Amino acid sequence: MCGIVGYVGSRPALGIVLEGLRRLEYRGYDSAGVAVISNGSVRMEKRAGKLANLEKALADRGPDGIAAGSTGIGHTRWATHGGPTDRNAHPHLSADGRVAVIHNGIIENFTRLRAELQATGVEFASDTDTECAAHLLAAEMRELRAAGAEGPQALAEGMRRVCRRLEGAFTLLAVDVAVPDAVVGARRNSPLVVGRGEGENYLASDVSAFIEHTREAVELGQDQVVLITPAGIEITDFAGQPSAGKDFHIDWDASAAEKGGYEYFMLKEIAEQPQAIHDTLLGRLSERGEIILDEVRLTDQDLRDVDKVFIVACGTAYHSGLVAKYAIEHWTRIPCEVELASEFRYRDPVLDRSTLVVAISQSGETMDTLMALRHAKEQKARVLAICNTNGSTIPRESDAVLYTHGGPEIAVASTKAFLTQLVACYLIGLHLAQVRGVMYADEVAAVVSRLMETPDHLRQLLDTMEDVRQLARDLKTASTVLFIGRHVGYPVALEGALKLKELAYMHAEGFAAGELKHGPIALIDEGTPVVCVVPSPAGRGVLRDKVVSNIQEVRARGARTIVIAEEGDEAVRPFADHLIEVPRTPTLLAPLMTTVPLQILACEIAAARGHDVDQPRNLAKSVTVE
Ligand code: F6R
Repeated sequence: MCGIVGYVGSRPALGIVLEGLRRLEYRGYDSAGVAVISNGSVRMEKRAGKLANLEKALADRGPDGIAAGSTGIGHTRWATHGGPTDRNAHPHLSADGRVAVIHNGIIENFTRLRAELQATGVEFASDTDTECAAHLLAAEMRELRAAGAEGPQALAEGMRRVCRRLEGAFTLLAVDVAVPDAVVGARRNSPLVVGRGEGENYLASDVSAFIEHTREAVELGQDQVVLITPAGIEITDFAGQPSAGKDFHIDWDASAAEKGGYEYFMLKEIAEQPQAIHDTLLGRLSERGEIILDEVRLTDQDLRDVDKVFIVACGTAYHSGLVAKYAIEHWTRIPCEVELASEFRYRDPVLDRSTLVVAISQSGETMDTLMALRHAKEQKARVLAICNTNGSTIPRESDAVLYTHGGPEIAVASTKAFLTQLVACYLIGLHLAQVRGVMYADEVAAVVSRLMETPDHLRQLLDTMEDVRQLARDLKTASTVLFIGRHVGYPVALEGALKLKELAYMHAEGFAAGELKHGPIALIDEGTPVVCVVPSPAGRGVLRDKVVSNIQEVRARGARTIVIAEEGDEAVRPFADHLIEVPRTPTLLAPLMTTVPLQILACEIAAARGHDVDQPRNLAKSVTVE
């Protein structure tokens, strides 16, 4: 939520910062802005709306040095305090015009700070919480200068003093005209990484902003201040004690964050799913057929002691947890609960040392999930993260982590992250079953070999999606679309509805097919599209038959049925107004197939309705507020 970039070096900062913002725009696109130190002043431009508005404003601007300065910061916003207007766009300047600040997060004590600053005569130019930080930093810098402190160290000290006064979650970057060769950053509960260059350094919300320039990065810890200059990187805690960051190498290149010929990132990421599954499975099976979870730092005994699994996550990641419940309970016989992270901590869940909490998050920064994780740790539960973002906060605070290797996901709507989260959940379920002696190694290996087949099956499926594209064009004017499923098909129905809501802005709902008759069937009218996810007849046949009955029930009430079923399942054909066949897959693994046509359906309906597929309205990729 909100993308942040900072650059210091010898090259013009503006282009580098704008390019970084382009790559971070998925984090928020309510407004964008830049500030560059040039010829002894802060040159700033900011505009409501997407980055293109800012670029136009910059193009219309006369030559005033903004393009020449080699120290700059930039921001792309997802609005929290203050509407998405020009005046609320970041950066925010101090009243003396010397300091510019950008921010991601929420400063919770901003009302008090604002009143305090106003009492000293400061006039605010925006409605944001961020502006307090700019005025506070300017005041600290004045005081430090009066005491004879100057240069980059003074800027870092000023930032530390400000951070000690702030409550809430924040990543802050700031520049000061008096310190032209430095950018200072700070983080608490919000992401910030450092990019290490040659004679230049970078700060950003995530590595995609600077991957084009360097693949060497430094991970920051909680409550740290980082100072970058052309000569180096210095990290301290908020008290000023030197701290070490953790160096890491980024093992994907800039092209992974490009569209690569696809019209949208979302289509590219859907197409990447076979590879993403393959990469997530890579190296996970020993020669003896046992699952290797090498990043899991829990002993086998810890896992044998587990008497309950609790999965916490949000949105699409939550849906992957719902699927995981079926697999984990079936394979391990351990009770498994799944809960929306935002509800979990306020409900007083019963946890103890024997509870394994699995926190699932693509970004690793989702505040609701992070807070649920912390709540679980306070209750002494062990926490295992499933995450796609190396070094992000959620895995860092967990007892163990299983990384999905999906590569960067840029489209706001999650696709390949979902499938790789499923794979990670399956691996954890199988590992638990194996360690606890509920499944033999050959049984585990048999499931894994079916998992290994899924990338090929998915490639075949992706080659047959032309019909779904056509269907999308037919459905684009529907006023409501319902999704039904049973067993693992139920979370798939929820996921299909979520994708349609967030991308096409249409009313869509997912239901457990058996629940229809308890109310929702009243929604069905002549022509209402109902997407039906049918279980494999080779699994629990009775389940498939029950869904077929539900299809007949909705059809009898005028629904137009779009049936997703296993290829060769002739019994469903008579009840399908539109049949989408997916390759045969074992029941528990079927969501790896059945979800994909629903992703494409939502993407194509959104495109047919003229929406921005990669950046749907009101959303952001990484939700770092509660
Ligand atoms: C929907 C979507 C969101 C995320 C949710 C959790 O397409 O992307 O529902 O799944 O915000 O995000 P992470 O996985 O980053 O915690």
